[in-house]
Amino acid sequence: MNKTKKAGMTTSVPTEAEVAKRVEALLGKLSLEEKIGQLNQVGGADFAPGPKAEGQIRKGGAGSVLWLNDTKRFNELQKIAVEESPSGIPLLFALDVIHGYRTIFPVPLAMASSWDPSVPEKSQTVAAREARAAGLHWTFGPMLDICRDARWGRIVEGAGEDPYLGAAMAAAQVRGFQGDDISDPERVLACAKHFAGYGYSEGGRDYDPAYISETQLRNIVFPPFKAAVEAGVASFMSAYMDLNDVPAGGNRWLLRQVLRQEWGFDGFVVSDAFAVGNLLIQGHARDRRDAALRGLKAGVNMDMSSYTYTENAADLVAKGDLSVAQIDELVRPILALKVKIGLFEHPYVDEGLLAQVVVRPEHRQTSRWAAQRSMVLLKNKGGLLPLKKDLKKVAVIGPLADSMEATEGSWMVFGHTPAAVTVLAGIRAKLPGAEVTYAPGPEIRRDIPSWFESVMGDAASKQVQTPEQAETAFQAAVEIARTAELVVMVLGETDVMAGEAASRASLDLPGRQEDLLKAVNALGKPIVLVLLNGRPLSVNWAAEHIPAILEAWEPGTEGGHAVADILFGDVNPGGKLPVSFPHKGSHMPLYYARNLTHSPESSPMYNPRYWDGLPVPLYPFGYGLSYTSFDFSNLKASAPQVMVGNRVTVSVEVTNTGKLAGDEVVQLYIHQKWGSDTRPMRELKGFERITLQPGETKTVSFQLGPDQLRYWSTNAGKWIQEAAQFDIWVGADSTATLHADLEVVS
Ligand code: NOJ
Repeated sequence: MNKTKKAGMTTSVPTEAEVAKRVEALLGKLSLEEKIGQLNQVGGADFAPGPKAEGQIRKGGAGSVLWLNDTKRFNELQKIAVEESPSGIPLLFALDVIHGYRTIFPVPLAMASSWDPSVPEKSQTVAAREARAAGLHWTFGPMLDICRDARWGRIVEGAGEDPYLGAAMAAAQVRGFQGDDISDPERVLACAKHFAGYGYSEGGRDYDPAYISETQLRNIVFPPFKAAVEAGVASFMSAYMDLNDVPAGGNRWLLRQVLRQEWGFDGFVVSDAFAVGNLLIQGHARDRRDAALRGLKAGVNMDMSSYTYTENAADLVAKGDLSVAQIDELVRPILALKVKIGLFEHPYVDEGLLAQVVVRPEHRQTSRWAAQRSMVLLKNKGGLLPLKKDLKKVAVIGPLADSMEATEGSWMVFGHTPAAVTVLAGIRAKLPGAEVTYAPGPEIRRDIPSWFESVMGDAASKQVQTPEQAETAFQAAVEIARTAELVVMVLGETDVMAGEAASRASLDLPGRQEDLLKAVNALGKPIVLVLLNGRPLSVNWAAEHIPAILEAWEPGTEGGHAVADILFGDVNPGGKLPVSFPHKGSHMPLYYARNLTHSPESSPMYNPRYWDGLPVPLYPFGYGLSYTSFDFSNLKASAPQVMVGNRVTVSVEVTNTGKLAGDEVVQLYIHQKWGSDTRPMRELKGFERITLQPGETKTVSFQLGPDQLRYWSTNAGKWIQEAAQFDIWVGADSTATLHADLEVVS
């Protein structure tokens, strides 16, 4: 037994053997019903269907509670579990803490835009500390779904389109949530979700089926999940949708063969909400009993609130469809994690702790830093940015300019009170002596509200603007702009326009935002466009006509300060897009790592892929500007040839050729020119965010070895590394032109 001391609490870290011994002892004490109870996650919220939490806990019928965010209530329920349930096993309290608990960080897509794994790691460290202080033990994150179709609303929760970047962000988030010792009372258990393929839902429509070849799964979809396992993630969540006609939550190949046998995952799998019961809707299970059997057999340890396990598992054992040994196998990792985090020793939370923890100044500082590093400068014509601080009259316009909800972004549910610094507030704080006027313009809203808005939000009680009111608001915004020296337009999507159940067919600016932008632009004032959004948007008109555009995403609690820091040059932006921006929503899926088949898209010999506009990105993957400039030179491999299985070092010199210190994300792409399968025209295989002073040069090196050069081959049916010629490019985005050759020989 090792001792660690954290936050004034001494925690014993048991060895694996000690954990196993305690788990077997616990199993020996539990009745079959109580074992099945450990496999049940009950809903703590009023909206949750099914039996109420308290009664289930009292009889030992619950292993975990979700959809509850109330410290006092946690202790009350825990007391029932510990003191009144037959064997006194404490509960795990779980919630979606996706990008912050009280201090909110940029949404995960934004954090991926930092191309700096320390951003999600430090952010999730704070999120874990606050969530744990509130009494939570387990978060349903990180969300690791690679997504190449921005119509899918949940793209906001992930790291974008690329498996290499996604894997780096996955591991960083797991480290942030769990630390290197999960018994640390300032950490929470992480949950890698949604396993697997949810980001490929057909047409970007949430919950729709995904059809993904094994080759794509292994080369593109799985890497972030595998990285999470390697980083020690405690739990997995199975995805909702059918994967190649088998529901992910009933998919033995995924949950048993790939996850446990191949990757050696030893934590537990929770279903997505109601998903075991939904095996019926999906046409996989005959009835709820059959659904339970399929979920249990597939290896879904915990049923998230469909109650099919508690209703049927005992009968399944009684009738011989399942053995007690099979139930034990599913219960073991849940108990093991309860032992490992010290839950038996410390089941309760100190109800005064959260108030002390959330006021720690470094939490807000980390949030501001994370937001600064996450923003992407998309355009800066004529060096309009950075702005001077001697401006006297600035108009801040747009429906999101003073929206705390849009600044915090998605997943702010279950009693969370928005408390962000908006862009308007950030600009006002930066310009104390100036007149900063504000007008929202017409409101924007979804055509069809989501369940989140109707059930948990206040959509029903909100008045919809009449067309006349919208027109008045439109004109008022133009009038405010007319008298300003400079206009900051804050446009994009509200917090409910991306996220779960928030897919859309178009990627245009919703509502009359573009019209407002055009009307304000017609005044001839300098305009800076700040985008707040959770997905790429096809801002073609703005890209052509507006001189400066900052992609701020949904930047969190300190978002408005971070925007102002960048607009006024206190921070030089260095984020890069983790996802391609399209010209049209109908170009989706659109991503850089495509295979070239038959002929280039622009070939004059053959038709382009579409005759009404080439499906090339508006802004490519990896793209982002700085207030300074960089030059890449002297790209070389340490040897022109490398043997299969060996490594080669690729190096490049990067120089800051401008007048300001700044960050560049050095990106390495490869292309295997021939082989058993066709390989993408480019694939990211290395990146590093560096800071350079004016005139400074740094040499950046990357290793290329079997991990980077191999791939899962359809033809071979396994991982292979081939002797072939490779292109290598290094540069500032996925269109980098600095090139070297590498030959891999056998
Ligand atoms: C459904 C979502 O798909 C999942 O991501 C989330 O963690 C659960 N609900 C619990 O809130």
